[in-house]
Amino acid sequence: MAGKGSIVILTGAGISKEFGLDTFRDKDGIWSRVRLEDVATPDAFRRDPAKVQAFYNTRRRNLVEGGIRPNPAHAALARLEREWPGEVLIVTQNIDDLHERAGSENLIHMHGELLKIRCQKCARPFAWTADVEVGDKCPDCHRLGTLRPHVVWFGEMPLDMERIFEALEACALFVSIGTSGHVYPAAGFVQTVRAQGRAHTAELNLEPSEGASLFRETRLGPASRLVPAFVEELLSADRS
Ligand code: APR
Repeated sequence: MAGKGSIVILTGAGISKEFGLDTFRDKDGIWSRVRLEDVATPDAFRRDPAKVQAFYNTRRRNLVEGGIRPNPAHAALARLEREWPGEVLIVTQNIDDLHERAGSENLIHMHGELLKIRCQKCARPFAWTADVEVGDKCPDCHRLGTLRPHVVWFGEMPLDMERIFEALEACALFVSIGTSGHVYPAAGFVQTVRAQGRAHTAELNLEPSEGASLFRETRLGPASRLVPAFVEELLSADRS
C-alpha cells in the first residue's frame, strides 16, 4: 500500500452507473443504442452536426435535469483528497460533473466535459448547460455555427496528457475504478505505472476489465460499496 506518496485515480463510466448515468459497453450501454461512428467522431460532426448536437443535448439535459447526483464512491474520493497527506489526482474519462459535485477539486477530464462547449474558431471552452443548436452564435467571436461539445471524440487527442503521465510516473498508488480498459490511452495507464516499478496498482470494478491481470490487486463489486471501503482502509492505515 502507498506511504505518504501521491495517488492517481482513473475513473470510468462505471463509477457513475449506480445513480443513473449509463455506461458504454455494458449490455444496456450507450453504444448498444447508438453507433459511436454516428455521434462521437469528427467525421460524424462534419456529416451530420444536428445529430451529434442532439446526442449531447440529450445527455446534457439528463445530467442537468434528470436528478443525477454523486454516489458514495464519488464522495469517498473527495474525502480521500481532503484527508490524504499526499496529492490525490483524479483522472476521469467521464464527461459528467459528479466528481466536482461530490467535492473533488484536483481533477482532469481527459475526455472533456458535457457541461462545456467550445468554438471551433476561437477554441475557447464555455460553461454551457442549455441545448446547442447548429446555427448558434459563439458568445466570444460571434461567429455562427462554430459551437461544438467540449468532448474528446474518437480519433482526437485526450486532454492534459503531459500532466497525466507526470502524475503516473510519480505516484505511489494507482487505482482504476469503473472502466472496461477498452479505450486507450487510459487503458494503458496501468502499464505506465508498472514500468516505474514503485507503485501499488488496484482495480475496483464490477467485473474484471480487459487489463485486470496487470493490476496487483483487483476488487470486484459495485463502486458505491468498494470505493468507500477502500478509502477507509487507506486512511486508517495512514493513521496507524
Ligand atoms: N461499479 C463499478 N464498476 C461498474 C459498475 C458499478 N456499479 N457498473 C459497471 N461497471 C463497470 C463495467 O463492468 C465496465 O467494466 O464499468 C465499466 C464501464 O466500461 P465502459 O462502458 O467501457 O465505460 P468506460 O470504460 O468509461 O469507457 C471509456 O469509452 O466510449 C468511450 O469516451 C467514452 O470515456 C468513455 C471511454
